[in-house]
Amino acid sequence: MKKTSMILDVDTGVDDAFAVLFAARHPEINLLGITCVDGNTNVDQVIENTLKVLDAAGAADIPVARGAVRPLLGKSQYAEYVHGADGMGDLGIAPSSRKVDPRSAVELLRDLIEESSEPVTLVPMAPLTNIALFLRAFPETAKKLHRIVLMGGSASAGNATAAAEFNVWHDPEAAAIVFQSGIPITMYGLDVFMRPGATSEDAAQLRKSPDPAAQFAATLIEAFIERLHVSPITLGDYGAVASAIRPQLFTTEIFDVVVDTSQGPARGQTICDRRAAFLKALEPNDLSDAASVRVTLDLDVEAVEQLWFKTIDKQWL
Ligand code: RIB
Ligand code: CA
Repeated sequence: MKKTSMILDVDTGVDDAFAVLFAARHPEINLLGITCVDGNTNVDQVIENTLKVLDAAGAADIPVARGAVRPLLGKSQYAEYVHGADGMGDLGIAPSSRKVDPRSAVELLRDLIEESSEPVTLVPMAPLTNIALFLRAFPETAKKLHRIVLMGGSASAGNATAAAEFNVWHDPEAAAIVFQSGIPITMYGLDVFMRPGATSEDAAQLRKSPDPAAQFAATLIEAFIERLHVSPITLGDYGAVASAIRPQLFTTEIFDVVVDTSQGPARGQTICDRRAAFLKALEPNDLSDAASVRVTLDLDVEAVEQLWFKTIDKQWL
């Protein structure tokens, strides 16, 4: 079986937890490590939450490293209204006995990529502060990355603001550095982010499994539904991991993309140039510093959902 060597960068977060559970369990993923960053909540809480998820997944001893404590320039802005004060639904889940890796996030990224005999896919699903710092600290190692599949951005509307998606909005300068890196990027953004979901009926089905990962997933789903008063709730960041190993389930198109780092109402917007070629002739240089990015526009929702459920719950029919 061909495996994808993968590193996640997370701000766990309930939907990051859905992604970590999947990546730790799926047989075609060789999860090399996880780096944590300030985003949905503070980085130390992110670490604590991520270690708890690895426990629930029954994962091997995967290194988890501490990264940036705030954006490059801006201040931290937490999404407690979505993820709770502790970032994972305020469920009072017992702390893990696992320990954070002694290396910083950028050191762990360097070591894992240098030591890997296989090309490494990096899947950030949080503000891109760690990735930007890594690119600046170890550019020669960064060049060895196979690709970046990131949850972030939007070719349409925003969520943190009218224009910007939360991960890019939280640290636009970091996002601009990553988008301009020259590393092949697939953007899994708000155009698809909300569509793979889970209902309380799905949670009830997961409850029938003796598997701790299925029970943990059911608890998160139920908590997310109760907190946001919506059903289905999105499986969120998980979709980026799925698109990295099942690209055939996703529809993408390559656009020139630039991150708005101004201080205006569009700050943090990922401006995707979707104009027909002949129209660009009118103003060919209006997107200076644009990067050529593979943008995810559609997906087979049913197949992506079933992929998650069957990975989390071996008894899922
Ligand atoms: O905009 C969605 C993103 O913001 C997701 O990664 C979610 O976890 C939050 O970090
Ligand atoms: Ca996230």
